[in-house]
Amino acid sequence: MAKLNIRRIGDDALRKVCRPVEEITPRIVTLLDDMVDTMRAADGCGLAAPQVGILRRIAVVEVEEGKVIELINPQIIATAGEQQELEGCLSIPGRSGVTKRPRHVTVRAMDRNGKVFEVSGSDLLARALCHEIDHLDGHLFVDRAVRMLDEGDD
Ligand code: NI
Repeated sequence: MAKLNIRRIGDDALRKVCRPVEEITPRIVTLLDDMVDTMRAADGCGLAAPQVGILRRIAVVEVEEGKVIELINPQIIATAGEQQELEGCLSIPGRSGVTKRPRHVTVRAMDRNGKVFEVSGSDLLARALCHEIDHLDGHLFVDRAVRMLDEGDD
C-alpha cells in the first residue's frame, strides 16, 4: 500500500470527466487500497480517483471510522430532501463553503469483486457520496457552494 499525491485545484485532472471501469484488474484493487491509505493519511472522509490523477470512475468514502465504502462506477439512483452544510475537499486545502445537497441519497456501484451493490446514506454520508461522485465528472464543491467561508472564519 502506498500514499498517493493529492492533486490540488488548478490541476487539469480535477476537471475531467472520468471513464468507467470496464474490468477490475489487480491494478484497480491496488489503487483502491492506496486511495484508502491516502484518504486516511490526509484525514479526509472521501477521495476520488481524479484527485490522485487517475481518470477513472472510482471513489472511496469513510465517514464512520472503519466503515470504508469503495465505489466503482457509482451512480446516484435516488435522492430525497435537502441539506445545506459546510463542506471541504482534500484538493482545496484550507477552504470550506456551504453547499446544497440532498439529505438522503442512494448510490448503485460495483465493489472490488465486481459485485453490484446499493448504499443509502443521510446527512454527512449523503454529502460525501455526492461530493465524491461530483469529482468523477470534474465538479468541485466550490462550483456549487452557496457561500464560501474565508480561512479563519468560524
Ligand atoms: Ni473533494
